[in-house]
Amino acid sequence: MTNTTVNLWQMKLSHPVMPAAGPNVMDAKALRDCAEGGAAALVAKTISSVAAVIPHPNMADLKNHFLNAELWSELPPENWINFELPEARKIGLPLIVSLGYVADDIAKLAPQVKPFADALELSTHYVGSDPRPMQDAIRAAKEAVDVPVMVKLSPFRDVQSAALAAQEAGADGIVCGNSFGPALGIDIENGGRLWMGGKGYGWISGPALKPISLRAVYDVARAVDIPVIGVGGVSRGTDVVEYLMAGASAVQVCTAAITRGQSVYGKIANEFTKWMESHNYQSISEIQGLALRNNETVMSAPPRLVPENCTGCNRCVTSCLYEALYLEDKSIHIHVERCTQCGLCLSRCASDALQAA
Ligand SMILES: Cc1cc2nc3c(=O)[nH]c(=O)nc-3n(C[C@H](O)[C@H](O)[C@H](O)COP(=O)(O)O)c2cc1C
Ligand code: SF4
Ligand code: SF4
Repeated sequence: MTNTTVNLWQMKLSHPVMPAAGPNVMDAKALRDCAEGGAAALVAKTISSVAAVIPHPNMADLKNHFLNAELWSELPPENWINFELPEARKIGLPLIVSLGYVADDIAKLAPQVKPFADALELSTHYVGSDPRPMQDAIRAAKEAVDVPVMVKLSPFRDVQSAALAAQEAGADGIVCGNSFGPALGIDIENGGRLWMGGKGYGWISGPALKPISLRAVYDVARAVDIPVIGVGGVSRGTDVVEYLMAGASAVQVCTAAITRGQSVYGKIANEFTKWMESHNYQSISEIQGLALRNNETVMSAPPRLVPENCTGCNRCVTSCLYEALYLEDKSIHIHVERCTQCGLCLSRCASDALQAA
């Protein structure tokens, strides 16, 4: 049986899946729903010095991506400190409290959330690309609490140098990353109205964000020697595998919990465990950082054909613009001399009939 436990500092997690800050963790009731939905730890919505005032509408599911124009928590910090966090503490799972944004906010808030937090997560979403305000915020947090302090980076900046600056300032972990933007979505069936209210801009999350966050985790994990948590487009067990192979220690989920409900954490964790078992991995440490240790990928020969796996679906033939692939007797064949080794067909075949040579 695979051991999926994760030790993040003093926190013991039964598996690597937890919520990310968003409306899925907007208050104690939502945090309890996450726990009942199978999350291994909890992350509360970002608390700042004042309650956020957000435009309406502020969320749209545009299928391969999600747009939002939320900010931080719409609850004032007093509500969190007097009610939501004490209630969330009773749930019994490790609780990560997200705070924003600059040193003054953190110096004020961190001592007040200290009794409830197993770790802090500092959002850097609105602090610009100069690393110094982030470093000041980290130092303010480290002075106020004795639990680990993580920093959540936004993907529209140089995450590697930001992570190094965070580590230098004393951060204990990096969360990669936040939503990407500004972006725009237009509702073409309703006179070209913008999907988001306010200025109309939204921030991308969900499946389209995953490759960007994954790259950020890969870059950061190579540069720092503190734990990295991957966030962005996690919706299946195999997404967890990918983030761990890129060097993450755990993952967070927001959009999939909004679109599929709070039971998604347990479902993703179960899929992850099944994948690990079916691939004979005994523990997370066996896959963590695998992609970091691989050499450069080189395709130096045409794909190897496994005709007995071919269903004759034609997907690879259609997309091989070099006309190297063809079907004969409902099975795949190749003109080796036409193949440029572009590699596309390896990802097009769902039946494992084309493999890297
Ligand atoms: C509606 C919404 C609200 C969010 N609010 C916050 C927030 O308050 N603090 C924060 O650090 N990230 C916030 N995020 C970003 C998410 O925590 C997460 O980093 C991002 O959505 C990528 O993960 P996903 O693809 O699983 O959603 C929010 C995301 C969404 C969609
Ligand atoms: S590697 Fe590229 S060129 Fe070669 S068969 Fe596949 S899709 Fe065609
Ligand atoms: S995509 Fe795979 S299964 Fe479909 S025709 Fe090509 S080799 Fe066969």
